Amino acid sequence: MRRVTLTQFLIEQQRAGRINADLRLLLEVVARAVKAIAVNVSKGALAGVLGEAGTDNVQGEAQKKLDVIANEILVQANEWGGHLAAMASEEVETVCRIPFDYPKGGYLLLFDPLDGSSNIDVNISVGTIFSVLRNPPGDDEPQEQDFLQPGHQQVAAGYAVYGPATQLVLTVGNGVHAFTLDREMGSFIYTQPYMTVPEDTKEYAINASNARFWEAPVKRYVDELQQGKSGPRGKDFNMRWVASMVADVHRVLTRGGIFMYPLDEKNRDKGGKLRLMYEANPMAMLVEQAGGAASTGRERILDVAPVALHQRVPVILGSKDEVERVVAYHTGA
Ligand code: AHG
Ligand code: MN
Ligand code: MN
Ligand code: MN
Repeated sequence: MRRVTLTQFLIEQQRAGRINADLRLLLEVVARAVKAIAVNVSKGALAGVLGEAGTDNVQGEAQKKLDVIANEILVQANEWGGHLAAMASEEVETVCRIPFDYPKGGYLLLFDPLDGSSNIDVNISVGTIFSVLRNPPGDDEPQEQDFLQPGHQQVAAGYAVYGPATQLVLTVGNGVHAFTLDREMGSFIYTQPYMTVPEDTKEYAINASNARFWEAPVKRYVDELQQGKSGPRGKDFNMRWVASMVADVHRVLTRGGIFMYPLDEKNRDKGGKLRLMYEANPMAMLVEQAGGAASTGRERILDVAPVALHQRVPVILGSKDEVERVVAYHTGA
C-alpha cells in the first residue's frame, strides 16, 4: 500500500483548491511543532519536563512545565514563517504578536498547547488543540477583537493526541483526516481518511464527581443512561473519562459516544469549564465535519458569538442523536 505523508496530503488539498500555499505552510509548521512537543512529552522524567512550572496562567491554573514548553514550541515554530498575523494561546493572557522583524500573513492561529495537563505527571494521554481563522482584512496588527469570530468561520482545526502513538487529526472543511507519527521516519502517515462519528453508541464521558452540581437536563440524561437495559434507553451504557479533552474526543471520533462538560453550579460564574476559542470551537468543527453534533445545550457551539479570548462555554458533543437528545432536554423541545 502506498504510504501517503501529511506533506503529500496537504499538497493534494492545495491542488484541489481547498487550501492555499500559506495555509499549507501553517499546517506543516503546526505538525512540526507537534513532533517537537511529542518528543518532550515522551521523554517525561528523563528530560526533566514533569512537574509544576511555578507560575499561574490567566485562567488561574498552576502551569505545568510542559504547558510552558509546548506553548514556547508552538509560538517559536510559527512566528517567523510569514503565514500568520498573530496567535493566541491558553497560556498567554493577550494576543501573541509576530515580532516586528518577521513578515506577516493572513491567518490567526489559536491553540491549547497542552491539553489534559493534570495527566502529564501520571503518564496518561495529553494533547494539543488548534484553530485557524482569517485575520479580518485591513488589520495589520490584530487586536483581541479580531480573534472574536464564531467557530463556523474557522478555516481549519485539529488536534494532536500524545498517546501510545502520536496522532494528528485535521480538518480543512472537507472531512476529518487522521495521521499517525512514524517516529523512525519523523513523518506523519495518513492512516484514517474521512473519520465519522458512529451513530450507534453505548459510551458517555462526563466528570461524574460533579453530578450534584449539574442542571436538571444533564441529571436526567445521565440518570437515564445509568438505568441501562431496564430504563427508558433499553440498553446498557459504559462510562469513560480520561480527563484529557483530546483523548476523550478522540475516542468519540473513533468509536462514537458523547462527551460532556456541561454548565454546573461550580462553573456557572465563568460560563462553563472549557474554553470556546481553542478547545470547544476546534473540537466542534471536527465533530461536525465527522457527522456528529456539538452544542452548549442551548446553542450550536460553532454559532456562539465570542466576547473574550479566554471565554468558557458548556460543551456537549459527539453522536448526533445523543447530542440532540440532551439539547431537547435543555430546551424542552
Ligand atoms: P487544560 O489541561 O488544557 O487546562 O484542559 C483541561 C480540561 C480538559 O482537558 C478536560 O476535559 C478537563 O479539563 C478535565 O477537567 P476535570 O478536572 O473536571 O476532570
Ligand atoms: Mn490549563
Ligand atoms: Mn485543554
Ligand atoms: Mn492546556
